[in-house]
Amino acid sequence: EMVPLEMHKVRIVQKLNLPPIDDRLKAVTEAGNNTFLLQNRDVFMDMLTDSGVNAMSDQQMAAMMVADDSYAGSATYTRLESKLRELFGMHYILPTHQGRACENILSQVLVTPGSIVPMNYHFTTTKAHIVLNGGTVEEIITEAGLAVTSDLPFKGDMDVAALERLVAENGPEKIAFVRIEAGTNLIGGQPVSLENMRAVRAVCDRHGLTLVYDASLMADNLHFLKTRDPALKDRSIREITREIADLCDIIYFSARKLGCARGGAICIRTEEMYNRMRALVPLYEGFLTYGGMSVREIEALTVGLEETMDEDMISQGPQFIAYMVNELDRRGIPVITPAGGLGCHIDVMRFLDHVPQAQYSAGALASALYLVSGVRGMERGTLSEQRNPDGTEPLANMELVRLAMPRRVFTLSQVKYAIDRIDWLWQNRAIVGGLKFIEEPEILRFFYGRLAPV
Ligand code: F0G
Repeated sequence: EMVPLEMHKVRIVQKLNLPPIDDRLKAVTEAGNNTFLLQNRDVFMDMLTDSGVNAMSDQQMAAMMVADDSYAGSATYTRLESKLRELFGMHYILPTHQGRACENILSQVLVTPGSIVPMNYHFTTTKAHIVLNGGTVEEIITEAGLAVTSDLPFKGDMDVAALERLVAENGPEKIAFVRIEAGTNLIGGQPVSLENMRAVRAVCDRHGLTLVYDASLMADNLHFLKTRDPALKDRSIREITREIADLCDIIYFSARKLGCARGGAICIRTEEMYNRMRALVPLYEGFLTYGGMSVREIEALTVGLEETMDEDMISQGPQFIAYMVNELDRRGIPVITPAGGLGCHIDVMRFLDHVPQAQYSAGALASALYLVSGVRGMERGTLSEQRNPDGTEPLANMELVRLAMPRRVFTLSQVKYAIDRIDWLWQNRAIVGGLKFIEEPEILRFFYGRLAPV
């Protein structure tokens, strides 16, 4: 049995509450059965996301104390810029307040009405910005990537032949850019191989396409490259990072997965592209030397980026996730395998095979799990999709409840508690029914829509 070993010690703690079940029922009913609308005081283990809730290191806290406050030309910003140039080898940097702000800028500049953005898999905010600018998203994940249970090491890989076909059918001028998402979020935090990235790069070179890398989940992806690709086992995380970056034209990321409360950046290879995007930073984010972040957050981000080069640091999330996934799997509970990054993902099509997708089975399970445990997870399935322009509902490829593993936040006992409660719910799954919307927002409905039992 592989038990994770914490390579850090805990020196600041936060008290948790575990409200009794009657209070949990009241809380989840008031939240419209949407775990996004729960109050944190009613939550025992918050496994909603790993975004903005990871533990900070002492080094990050210390750096925040020496931040250089100024609107323009802050030394704090220069430190971030230097770190990004050093790690990615790209000269031009635009700071933003978070990942979706990068997506707004990229989409406004690169996406035109009728254009296409091929990608290994979409992320909710990415797709929303592309669609808002008149583009469409083409998901060209390999078929094997959609297999819920598998032992493939890199399920996030793009189908390179499908990319070639897409370019041949539409012409390269229709392709706004090609996007690779590290640690593919919506299919279970599954990594992308370096080999696949090289093949995608070759297609981009042949047709003059821009390759954009969403590095929000790069830390996990780096860990998997190092541990799952035999060709990389003797390479340092820093070298692997640079090798990835050298394949890309643009790298953007959300800093919220790096122990920061806020932040993001777009790293750009050419001055020409930088000039096309630059004006949007003061317009939407803030001046070019802070981009909507506070100087303290920028300092924490710079240190967070450096800590991402530390194997003992980036292995923590994946090790805890692997423990949880393997323990659930051992009990016959349907989960996405192999364990990926980000969190543990329950396969709801099998967990609740009696609830149709149109009744938001994953949303129903997330709500039920909170009720029986105080553990807050997130629906990642049909509820997280947007309706088609004609109002019809696309059923998601995967119907998941994601239990994110904030880095270095939970102890193993807490993870065992979550496993035990999920096991109880699995034994009693017949009691869980479907949901229907009682309030359905038009855009990103999963964030604040309200539902009731069917
Ligand atoms: N890209 C990926 C792959 C992400 O996982 C996220 C955020 C974003 C972009 C957007 O970044 O939130 O800073 O604006 N993922 C969070 C999550 C929200 O919970 O998975 P953001």
